[in-house]
Amino acid sequence: MARLELNQLSKRYGDFFAARDVTLDVADGEFLVLLGPSGCGKTTTLRMIAGFVEPTSGAVRIGDNDVTQLPAWKRNTGLVFQSYALFPHLTVAQNVAFGLEMRKAPRSEITQRVGEALELVRLGHLGDRLPRQLSGGQQQRVALARALAFQPDVLLLDEPLSNLDAKLRQEVRVEIRKLQQSLNLTTVMVTHDQEEALTMADRLVVMSEGAVRQVGSQRDLYERPADRFVAGFVGRSSFLSGSLETPERFRSAGGIAVACRPSTVAIGPATLALRPERVTVTPEAISDVENGFVGEVEFVSYLGGLIDLHVRLSPSDLVIAQIPNREDGFMPRTGDKVHVGWTVASASVFPGSGDDADSADL
Ligand SMILES: Nc1ncnc2c1ncn2[C@@H]1O[C@H](COP(=O)(O)OP(=O)(O)OP(=O)(O)O)[C@@H](O)[C@H]1O
Ligand SMILES: [Mg+2]
Repeated sequence: MARLELNQLSKRYGDFFAARDVTLDVADGEFLVLLGPSGCGKTTTLRMIAGFVEPTSGAVRIGDNDVTQLPAWKRNTGLVFQSYALFPHLTVAQNVAFGLEMRKAPRSEITQRVGEALELVRLGHLGDRLPRQLSGGQQQRVALARALAFQPDVLLLDEPLSNLDAKLRQEVRVEIRKLQQSLNLTTVMVTHDQEEALTMADRLVVMSEGAVRQVGSQRDLYERPADRFVAGFVGRSSFLSGSLETPERFRSAGGIAVACRPSTVAIGPATLALRPERVTVTPEAISDVENGFVGEVEFVSYLGGLIDLHVRLSPSDLVIAQIPNREDGFMPRTGDKVHVGWTVASASVFPGSGDDADSADL
């Protein structure tokens, strides 16, 4: 267990930056998740921490040590890959023991550590099996046991659940999180699965194009996305294109004036982002709403307990609303005129209007 620090860590291939100036501080015992689209540099960053990719510049510190120049096997990190990478001809116990044997640990210590690691992942009874005699979830737990057997200072997980089916994924997700908490293990996990990231992390890091866009709690990212990319990538947003007229008033290209919280964005072209869950839709006008508009329902999608609505407020302004599906509630239909509202705190404003006033990330 240790604190992990990345300081302006970059990896360049030719003139392409796979990771650029990644600076992160992971507290002792913290579970940090790197989230971002494919190719944004998550694996590269993780492998630089583990010592399998040499940084072009920057530094990695684990605890009190600068490990940037240390080979992987001297860093005391445990890495679990997306593919379990178990040796098919070795038993479960031999797989877990392999790394310890490579490090020439004494036999008695190896036996004890393998036993403990397998107990941790609740596979103590399956040590003599071969990997092919295990389910996918069990194999992934062996890979986890192998990483834990080192008693690593930092646990690194690269999409550890992506080969598991949806149900198993949820189970192993909970198991990993409980184990991480009980061992107080400093952990960095990579995923591009948003739900996985949101449910497991203490804090999240959103990356795109090699760079960190925002670091924060689930709530920070949701309520205060740092930029338009984060607003569209974490959760969903409708985007209205227009301009900021005063620090507290946005006017869309379609002429809608929206009261918003005081913005530091410069007066001029801007984009307003709105969370669908924050938009209320009613058949009658709501009296005390801060931003109230009339629109026409363009699309209705039933999602069990929730209903997604696309409501057109002007030829160039479309908002998505997500409302509860109540038995006694209002059931809007395509073509209905409805009242739409949201609070001043619900919208975020970003610089630049773009030319996609009509787009919404669906
Ligand atoms: N050895 C390499 N040589 C050249 N380019 C590389 C190399 N390794 C990675 N890249 C490039 O660096 C970028 C980041 O790759 P990386 O594997 O870190 O992405 P990722 O965020 O893990 O994506 P995914 O979600 O698809 O796993 C990609 O564009 C990739 O093609
Ligand atoms: Mg990857």
